[in-house]
Amino acid sequence: MKFALLVPAAGSGSRLGSELPKALVDLGGEAMVVRAIRPFLDCEECRKIVVAAPADLIPDVQQVLQPLWATCELSVVAGGATRQDSVGFALDAVGDRDIDAVLIHDAARPLITVETIRRVFDALKHGADAVLPGVEVSDTLKAVAGMPPIVRETIPRKGLYAVQTPQGLRIAVAREAFRRARAEGLQCTDDVALVEQFGLGRVQICEGDSGNFKITTPADLRLARLLVAAR
Ligand code: CTP
Ligand code: MG
Repeated sequence: MKFALLVPAAGSGSRLGSELPKALVDLGGEAMVVRAIRPFLDCEECRKIVVAAPADLIPDVQQVLQPLWATCELSVVAGGATRQDSVGFALDAVGDRDIDAVLIHDAARPLITVETIRRVFDALKHGADAVLPGVEVSDTLKAVAGMPPIVRETIPRKGLYAVQTPQGLRIAVAREAFRRARAEGLQCTDDVALVEQFGLGRVQICEGDSGNFKITTPADLRLARLLVAAR
């Protein structure tokens, strides 16, 4: 079973507030997008990588990815206005080649490990239509509304998972999900939500890793830099 890796990297990183788009921000001497991809190269089933980059920065992204070029077929396409659009354009670029599944991984999660990748891929190999890594929520959750924010309800956290990427989808499921999302103008915040929405298959959770957090704010970046330095 072979997969293509799709990497949405076309966001501006507005919450991080850096001059560069997030994918190009340095993390311990390497651009975030390079770190986010590298562990996938240890999987021989990874046959193609498509990165969706900001349209005006395609040459810059191609340049930082140069060291990976020799190890896997890699292309950079222009992303879209939303993450879902960016993933859709990357999926289009996979073409009709001999690929069984896609793994979709945010450039903003550069601390991904090969163990998490393998758990996602193994679930697909064992027949899952769609799979994503998740970590059981450990904080108490409150539903809040108004200004000042007032607690309306405490949400029982049993059975609640915070989900991450890479999200894995069988290629036919991915293609159908994105075809229908385009046809119906539906936007979701994550890719497997489309599978849920259209009832295209069962969405399975595999064990995630709390170290695979998304770098969203300057505090996330500071923590990631400490972790990389300590490795
Ligand atoms: N992404 C993308 N195309 C977009 C928006 C986001 O490819 N139009 C990607 C980002 O590059 C990132 C991932 O989706 O790798 C997760 O998005 P997020 O963490 O929200 O990143 P940004 O959108 O860049 O950050 P912000 O929302 O703070 O602007
Ligand atoms: Mg965003």
